[in-house]
Amino acid sequence: MNNEYIETIKSGMSKSVPPEPCIVVIFGVTGDLTHRELIPSLYALRCRNLLPKQFAIIGFARRDWSDDFFRTEMKNIMKKVNECGEKEWELFAKNLFYVRGDFNDDASTSYSDLRRRIKEVQSKLNIPDNVLFHLSTPPENYSAIIERLGRASLSKSESGWRRVIIEKPFGHDEKSARKLDDDIHKVFEEEQIFRVDHYLGKETVQNMLVFRFANPGFEPIWNRNYIENIQITVAEDLGIGTRGNFYESTGILRDMVQNHMLQLFCMAALEPPVNYDISLRSETKKVLDSVCRIDVEKDVVLGQYGSGIVKDERVVSYRVEKNVAANSTTPTFAAFKLTIDNWRWAGVPFYLRTGKRLKRKLTEVTIQFKPTPHLMFPGYKKDRLNRNVLTFRLQPNEGIIYTFMAKQPGAELKLQPVNLNFQYDTAFGISETPSAYQWLLFDAMKGDQTLFPRADWIYKAWSIIDAVIKKWEAEPWTELPNYTAGSWGPNEADKLISSGGCSWNVKD
Ligand code: BG6
Repeated sequence: MNNEYIETIKSGMSKSVPPEPCIVVIFGVTGDLTHRELIPSLYALRCRNLLPKQFAIIGFARRDWSDDFFRTEMKNIMKKVNECGEKEWELFAKNLFYVRGDFNDDASTSYSDLRRRIKEVQSKLNIPDNVLFHLSTPPENYSAIIERLGRASLSKSESGWRRVIIEKPFGHDEKSARKLDDDIHKVFEEEQIFRVDHYLGKETVQNMLVFRFANPGFEPIWNRNYIENIQITVAEDLGIGTRGNFYESTGILRDMVQNHMLQLFCMAALEPPVNYDISLRSETKKVLDSVCRIDVEKDVVLGQYGSGIVKDERVVSYRVEKNVAANSTTPTFAAFKLTIDNWRWAGVPFYLRTGKRLKRKLTEVTIQFKPTPHLMFPGYKKDRLNRNVLTFRLQPNEGIIYTFMAKQPGAELKLQPVNLNFQYDTAFGISETPSAYQWLLFDAMKGDQTLFPRADWIYKAWSIIDAVIKKWEAEPWTELPNYTAGSWGPNEADKLISSGGCSWNVKD
């Protein structure tokens, strides 16, 4: 790879134009998401010269913090990831401010403090009246915050823009998602609303679209005539950590399947959008509209982890985790078989699986092609060996791998699967792919909704998952726990795929 090429790629990102000057207000700034993602991502944008010069962050939360305390807290978390040095951090940190307030306060108290602070910061730093609100609180606070923003006249501006980012989960079923969206629409217009699914901000997920629609080679065979099955694995080795309370009412179906898994499914299955813009959202919605009804008994496997060994360490079962009921039936694993009733995909199974405390962290989408129609090599049957597989490795070791058959060197004609391997780090000369949140925050500041799900997509995704949740909550259909931490999930998930004559591509 020549240096000039690598430099061109690297500078490509810094040549993008920063958004207009603005203030980002983070509700729930003392929480985990701010520490893990929001501040590191905003600072990374600063280091890439992708933030406007006039820029500030105002944190809003209940704790009794001062501006200085907020800055020190953020500095502590940034120690590990300080990309561009102490001096740059100091410049960034002096524009961090904090407002103490209660999300449920009357609009005339905490929210008028916030309004006052926004005005002060705008005039001090000469920032026009552009404000992006980021709701990173527990979801039950969303409607109250939005309503207060409206009442405190913070949702509109005569001279600038107002936008709002809503974190997932967006509702806990279709009905509550519709109610939440109605509440938001009482205060904000659709073009002001940015509903987050951070998987869409991942470079590797966007690259699935680039691979499919910027290269003519695979699209003609991207259909039922050539593809036998598509598999999506989102495996995590972590358990639920300190999120027991949240997870008990969420479980894997609401936490991962209704959003991230179904988004990946749409990326693999969608028709070519007209442009890389919000028309993408219409295509992902069409995929969900074509999903065949799920037979919950036959097409779904749910599970919950027992104790086991993960990365050489003994870990406890889900029911022993903090804030989890001793007889909890919350699922921590899900496997699905989905089919799509349309011209391109009729009869092709899509197998999805995701779980906590699985063997290792891995996110992959694999396209398993059909075998060659006739195998002329003596001694070889048309078995799985000669099927080509295209793997999108979304994390870790991001890349795309194409597995095909080759002749082993030697006098005899022996076939062997080999890999064509594209790796992000070596191809682009980067040690780490930029975080999803960087691009989502950047896009929201620019007003670009392409990578943010539309409400009707979210409703449809809920309607698919609600049926499964309802059945499970009424009567969990298996003994729990039913898989050992450190495994690939319940045996039933293997049976689900083997009943279709396939097996999971990732097994070790
Ligand atoms: C979040 C879920 O949306 O995604 C978490 O709430 C999960 O439970 C996380 O761990 C996984 O994201 P990633 O980017 O690490 O695959």
